[in-house]
Amino acid sequence: MAIVRFEDYQWKYANTKEFALRGINLEIEEGTFVGVIGPNGSGKTTFAYSINGLIPSQYYGVRKGHVYVAGREVKEYRADELAKQVGVVFSDPEAQFTAMTVEDEVVFGMENIGLTVEEIRERLEWVVPLTEIGHLMDKPPYEVSGGQKQRVALAAVLGMMPRVIVMDEPTAMLDPISRKRVFDVLGRMKHEQSNTVIAIEHNLENLIPLADRMVLLYNGEIILDDEPRPFFEQMDLLLKHDVFPPGAIQYFFELLREGYYNGPLPLTLDDATARLRQLVEKVKEQS
Ligand SMILES: Nc1ncnc2c1ncn2[C@@H]1O[C@H](COP(=O)(O)OP(=O)(O)O)[C@@H](O)[C@H]1O
Ligand SMILES: [Mg+2]
Repeated sequence: MAIVRFEDYQWKYANTKEFALRGINLEIEEGTFVGVIGPNGSGKTTFAYSINGLIPSQYYGVRKGHVYVAGREVKEYRADELAKQVGVVFSDPEAQFTAMTVEDEVVFGMENIGLTVEEIRERLEWVVPLTEIGHLMDKPPYEVSGGQKQRVALAAVLGMMPRVIVMDEPTAMLDPISRKRVFDVLGRMKHEQSNTVIAIEHNLENLIPLADRMVLLYNGEIILDDEPRPFFEQMDLLLKHDVFPPGAIQYFFELLREGYYNGPLPLTLDDATARLRQLVEKVKEQS
């Protein structure tokens, strides 16, 4: 069964002319890591809000169709019940912080969903090393660095063990090294946990190796939805919709198109480098 399902879904914010999301049909299987991309204003945050219930509970507007989480319509959930199913991490985690220490911040959500002291202790034992925040536990959450804040926010969400984690540009405000560390946590999370992850992210280099599936939103509609390789093989469609795949992918796509290469499209820099070496060797042998 799909853990998240959109059925002919549309949403228009009050006092706007255009629907921010239109004709959304999408089924996400439990345990999948889905990368959602698209230029600014394409509806990505609206999509995230439609899953975590901020839409329609906190926004006025026109809603059509259905969004289901774990088989039940988002709008039918009580907020605390939906919080057990869906956890969210935003670009600016500080806006969500309420506690005086990192430890309390991470514990807070778990207390809120009614876990016992013993359960909380057990979860801290895996979530703290996973997110590498052990050395920060006594600090005020607003005093740690941007990347550390994001790892604290992730720890708080992971501790609640939601079945779905939605991340809306979690690394947008981070420098490349902090960004890499957040993605390292996501990588470990993907391999150690069975959560469904929906990651809205502009940083394709980091996103692609984790994604089981990619969705392109543009102007409120799903333009493309596929596994990463066939997704990036639609190069012209991507470029037309302001998506700029990593250089290595674009180069190999050109080689493929011009007939100089006929293997699978490499999706990471490492894979592209290895395939380029093979290609060079082949050319040397022939000459
Ligand atoms: N609170 C709001 N009120 C009215 N319109 C909004 C609101 N939030 C977003 N929009 C509009 O909805 C569309 C999609 O926005 P958004 O979901 O934020 O896109 P993205 O996250 O991809 O940048 C845009 O046209 C935006 O202007
Ligand atoms: Mg957004």
